[in-house]
Amino acid sequence: MTQIDFIRSLPKAELHLHIEGSLEPEMMFELAERNQISLPFDSVDAVREAYQFSNLQDFLDIYYQGMSVLITEQDFFDLTLAYLMKAKSDGVRHVEIFFDPQGHVERGVAFETVVNGIHRALIEGEVKHDISFGLIMCFLRHLSEADAFETLVQAKPYRDKIIGIGLDSSEQGNPPEKFQHVYAEAKKQGYHLVAHAGEEGSADYVLQALDLLKIERIDHGNSILDDAALTQRVADAGIALTVCPLSNLKLCVVDTAENHPLPKMLAKGLKVTLNADDPSYFGGYIADNYLVMAQAFDLDRKTLVKLAKNSITASFADTSRKQDLLLELLERALA
Ligand code: HPA
Ligand code: ZN
Repeated sequence: MTQIDFIRSLPKAELHLHIEGSLEPEMMFELAERNQISLPFDSVDAVREAYQFSNLQDFLDIYYQGMSVLITEQDFFDLTLAYLMKAKSDGVRHVEIFFDPQGHVERGVAFETVVNGIHRALIEGEVKHDISFGLIMCFLRHLSEADAFETLVQAKPYRDKIIGIGLDSSEQGNPPEKFQHVYAEAKKQGYHLVAHAGEEGSADYVLQALDLLKIERIDHGNSILDDAALTQRVADAGIALTVCPLSNLKLCVVDTAENHPLPKMLAKGLKVTLNADDPSYFGGYIADNYLVMAQAFDLDRKTLVKLAKNSITASFADTSRKQDLLLELLERALA
């Protein structure tokens, strides 16, 4: 069995995936036509060629432009189902999907259109394809905390469809402390809490996300290694990091796969998971992310199984689902 087949055969959870970042150029054109929207590109190849980024902001500018083709509930359904089919072929059995409601509401698309389309596809994925799920609503950190509060209010009627709150977009200059009140309110309302921290921001941003936002998982977290005491604390507490290798490469957070901090993270006892982030923009889905690290560091099967195991135990899936997936993983590892 080839390495990629072995990776795909492992039951795993995807915990860091922006659904808008799974919009493939082909679907972008299809939806643009369906919704009579003009794109600043004349071909699928031209779109792919534009996907060269030198930092996070470069990417975000194109990412927000790309999502402009998403208008109807059916668009959000089609987008999500297409992602789930890719995930299924990579062995994903549980997904926790991020979405950016502010990126749609500010364009005049109703909150309910977005949530209902994504959620309907997630239900179909669960019923027909045995992929359990959670939906996590992210606040855009370049906007104000007041705007985030407004989004939290808009989410109220859909409380049963959304399990958690995240924080994404431009990290530098938008520290976690800016959102501490809205996170406190979200915690009161019973949401799970996560946040992007330490992607381009310093280790201090990770510390703030833990202490001020009270997050349960760290999205990215690369810069944590700059602070030995914090690294030790996060390792001891078993707080998971949702690491995204191809994203780190595409956004120049790391220069080469061989310089990725994954081995250091593992050596420090950090609970690392591997994820795709924005697969259509970064050149690969979850199995490709496992593969690029496996090849760069000659990871053995035991380590790949450990990464898959971390993804299941770090998820917000219920206990019985976690037990079922862990048992399947164990059977796979022993086969
Ligand atoms: N980082 C921050 N914000 C984002 C990302 C990311 O990788 N993807 C979509 N929004
Ligand atoms: Zn992300």
